[in-house]
Amino acid sequence: MRRKLVAGNWKMHGGLARNRALLDSLVQAVGTGGSADCAVCVPFPYLAQTQELLKGTALTWGAQTLSEHAQGAYTGEVSAAMLADFGCRYVLVGHSERRSLYGEGNETVAAKFVAAVQGGLTPVLCLGETLEQREGEITEKVIAAQLDAVVQAAGMNGLAKAVIAYEPVWAIGTGRTATPQQAQDVHAFIRARLAESDVALAQRLQILYGGSVKPQNAVELFGMADIDGGLIGGAALVAEDFLAICAAAAK
Ligand code: PGA
Repeated sequence: MRRKLVAGNWKMHGGLARNRALLDSLVQAVGTGGSADCAVCVPFPYLAQTQELLKGTALTWGAQTLSEHAQGAYTGEVSAAMLADFGCRYVLVGHSERRSLYGEGNETVAAKFVAAVQGGLTPVLCLGETLEQREGEITEKVIAAQLDAVVQAAGMNGLAKAVIAYEPVWAIGTGRTATPQQAQDVHAFIRARLAESDVALAQRLQILYGGSVKPQNAVELFGMADIDGGLIGGAALVAEDFLAICAAAAK
């Protein structure tokens, strides 16, 4: 069975005192680890604090985006090597907010994915359709295009170093979760598409679901055959909720 992963996406939330309280609670509860992995993806300025508080614990951490470039005159950008300097294991790539608010298209996302892999990080590649696309019945087409761009740039060897997160845009931060079956169907589609190139890798790859995951719906979602954990936004900011979701993944 694939191991489950629950990754928190803090987005642009946090503050030194608040982070400390949250991370301390997670460390106390998760301790030396359980049967699921638990990670937090924090804003850049808090990576040092996160590293300090989580080092040596069962929790891992990461960032929410990175530059596609290794170094150079790119004011405001942060490279994979810089994230690695702060002990990051994960980096989100292609989150729908990056795609829609910051104009990151499939090519840019693919370039960032390659930079993450080259920098020794595990990219969490986010894929997802908008409500309009779902209603227009082009969900699979959209997901396939997002996935194929990355496979083309990074190859299946690159994919082997990644985690995928299916996040329907209409379910992010809206309280409207995909039904377990809707999510399962897309997860199965992603796995089948990868299996066309590499059956063993498709079987082994973790595919997380994200979009209004809460303690109340986590058990049912994580119980689906192709859902290997979650990418958690809002509920990742509340220790009790995040821990309950981590516990659901360990069932
Ligand atoms: P949400 O966010 O859990 O608040 O819907 C998920 C995400 O954006 O990764």
